[in-house]
Amino acid sequence: MITAPSGTLHSAQQPDWPDPQTLSTVTDRLAGLPPLVPLAEADALRERLAAAARGEALLLQGGHCAEEFGPRALGEAESTVTTLRQMAEIISYGAAVPVVPLGRMAGQYAKPRSSSTETRGGVELPAYRGDSVNGLGFTAADRAPDPWRMETAYRTAARTLERIRLLPGADDELTGPDGLADPAAGAPFHVSHEALLLDYETPLVRTDPATGRRYAGSGHLVWIGERTRQLDGGHVAFAASIANPIGVKVGPTATADELLTLTDILDPDREGGRLTFITRMGADRIHAVLPALVEKVTAAGANVLWVCDPMHGNTQVAPNGFKTRSLGDITAEIRAFVEIHRSLGTHPGGLHLELTGSHVTECVGGTDPVTLDDLDRNYTTACDPRLNRGQALDMAFLAADLWRPAR
Ligand code: PEP
Ligand code: CO
Repeated sequence: MITAPSGTLHSAQQPDWPDPQTLSTVTDRLAGLPPLVPLAEADALRERLAAAARGEALLLQGGHCAEEFGPRALGEAESTVTTLRQMAEIISYGAAVPVVPLGRMAGQYAKPRSSSTETRGGVELPAYRGDSVNGLGFTAADRAPDPWRMETAYRTAARTLERIRLLPGADDELTGPDGLADPAAGAPFHVSHEALLLDYETPLVRTDPATGRRYAGSGHLVWIGERTRQLDGGHVAFAASIANPIGVKVGPTATADELLTLTDILDPDREGGRLTFITRMGADRIHAVLPALVEKVTAAGANVLWVCDPMHGNTQVAPNGFKTRSLGDITAEIRAFVEIHRSLGTHPGGLHLELTGSHVTECVGGTDPVTLDDLDRNYTTACDPRLNRGQALDMAFLAADLWRPAR
């Protein structure tokens, strides 16, 4: 049922598809479709990430926690891109550093869950695992996994990418006040997602005929989540088998030995830009955990990009039962991340944020603050709470300030 590269590895967080025949019909169809992104663009992104790993650029990765299918998908993606571009301008101007924007989109349709079921009013149903697996509605029909959803994921991603390419400003050059040229000039907008659903990712792998290298055709960068980074699991093996830049989420229970083994598996040649560790410790844990990890990984000669995800270690449940995050905690984790890297002489390489271009009320705080009482006004996320547009711009001004070179 699980199509890990060796066919025998255990892969966590995979759906219980009801019908193997339908599954293989759909995966065969995916295997016959063109890649969603040109393979050479993954190499171009890797070079830009290598610059970020050298401290010559910053990665700004962001988008929804879970993208949804449907009539609003393209508009949502467009406003997310517009927000990311505006953030990139604020940061590159303020901190005089080129910014590499990277959408968390056109593939962010599968979610890991801590519980495989959800109970409401005494009714227990399978948990929502993202639009590429099942539906968000709380009915047995919605929650039944349906392999055909993977083909809808491909088509929605293709239309999203087409919309992004048509946006004005796609080729703009971002420069700092000192006129630092951005190597992104003329570059396409790059996209990324968690490579969670191996029945979607594996059939979309394509080989570059010129080099014989294999690439995920589903996006430019893919990452491995905190719940699926088992050293002997199917997700790590999948990532090892492709040439794209790879991210790995790193939570507070990770050990330096695990990160070193991941480096050996995923980046044996220590190729700049290949491997990004996206740390998501929580504001209350980062000081205790991150310094030793960075120190040991650096001392072992790994050549990785360090990025801060200040969202996933700072989720709380509000009094009304909604999941939320406070800008105070998010800010504290970003500040600590920058301080820790500065004190170790390593590069704080960028940010990974869950955000939207619209005025949602999901995270609390900000210059135009959302309060706990506001949460139910416009809480529309399919999964985790996102920064709204104003809050995202607040974080861009914070980043411009933190990354500004000392005068
Ligand atoms: C996510 O990025 O939405 C996510 C599930 O993160 P993590 O794997 O870090 O928990
Ligand atoms: Co999330």
